[in-house]
Parts: sequence; structure tokens; C-alpha cells
Amino acid sequence: MGIKNYVHFEFSSLPENVSFARACVGAFASQLDYTLDDIEEIKLVVSEAVSNSIIHGYDNKTNQKIEITVTINEDRSLEIIIKDYGKGIENIEKAMEATYSSDPSRMGLGFTFMKSFTDEMDILSKPGEGTCVRLKRNFTNEQKEAFS
Ligand SMILES: Nc1ncnc2c1ncn2[C@@H]1O[C@H](COP(=O)(O)OP(=O)(O)OP(=O)(O)O)[C@@H](O)[C@H]1O
Ligand SMILES: [Mg+2]
Repeated sequence: MGIKNYVHFEFSSLPENVSFARACVGAFASQLDYTLDDIEEIKLVVSEAVSNSIIHGYDNKTNQKIEITVTINEDRSLEIIIKDYGKGIENIEKAMEATYSSDPSRMGLGFTFMKSFTDEMDILSKPGEGTCVRLKRNFTNEQKEAFS
């Protein structure tokens, strides 16, 4: 399937860049006639993934690299890839479980939100090498109506 448009950007693992990343992806996605609620969901999943890279992947170390690629496909689906080069995830299945967190002070709901607000979620991760999360949202009927 062909690509219609994409953006790729990278930034350092600073907490202030969470809001930068979510705003960027939200702005890019808005060309697809999403509702404001859809855009809020898209921003939320980006915040969750980027926060995970900063907090877990890099243990809050700043000046580490996070990359985001956002693609709009020919079928008007939206794909977001968030990549870090941090410590990686030992057990991806466990990490995806609702309320599981390696940090007892956290809720362990990030992946649950990412999964529930997207149509596809894939996690690629290798301990010591990093983590790559791919999130995809299909084109909805609501968007089709707004488009015509
Ligand atoms: N990029 C990452 N690098 C390394 N480990 C990660 C990464 N993303 C997630 N994890 C691991 O997966 C677990 C589950 O992530 P999830 O976002 O669901 O919950 P959380 O971040 O612990 O809590 P919350 O998102 O509710 O604050 C994390 O506790 C962490 O151990
Ligand atoms: Mg999280």
C-alpha cells in the first residue's frame, strides 16, 4: 500500500518534549478530517509512548534520542512509529498487561490506552537496544463523511 504523506522528526528525551511531540503529531494528523475527540486520542497515545521512552527506556536521562515517524497511507490510515534506543523491554506480553508496571508508583495503563485508541499496536523491543512502538488508526466512516 502506498504512502501519501509522512513526517519524521527526532528530539531529545526531555519531559518538555512530550507536549511538543503530541502537538506535532496532532497537527500533522489534522489533515485527515479527524474529529477533535480523535485528535485528542491521537495526542494521548503519542504522550504515552514518548513518556515511556523517557521514563522507562532512558530512566529519565536527558539528551537521548527519540524518533517519531508519522505516515498517512493511500487508504488514509494513519501510522505513528515511536522509537528509542534505551534499555528495551524484557517481557513485552507482561508489559502490555493492564495495570502492570515495573514502577510500583505508576498505573501501568500506557499500553492499554495505546491499544484501545488505535486499530493496531505492535511493539518491537530488545533488551539493551531499544523499543519501537507502531500504532495505526484506520480511516473511519465519520472521516469519510467529512471528506465528501
Ligand atoms: N520504551 C520503553 N522502554 C523500556 N521499557 C518500557 C518502555 N515502554 C514501556 N516499558 C515497560 O512496560 C511497562 C508498561 O508500560 P505502560 O506504559 O503500560 O505502564 P507504565 O508506564 O508503567 O505506567 P503509566 O503509563 O500508567 O504511567 C513499563 O512499566 C515498563 O516496564
Ligand atoms: Mg507508560
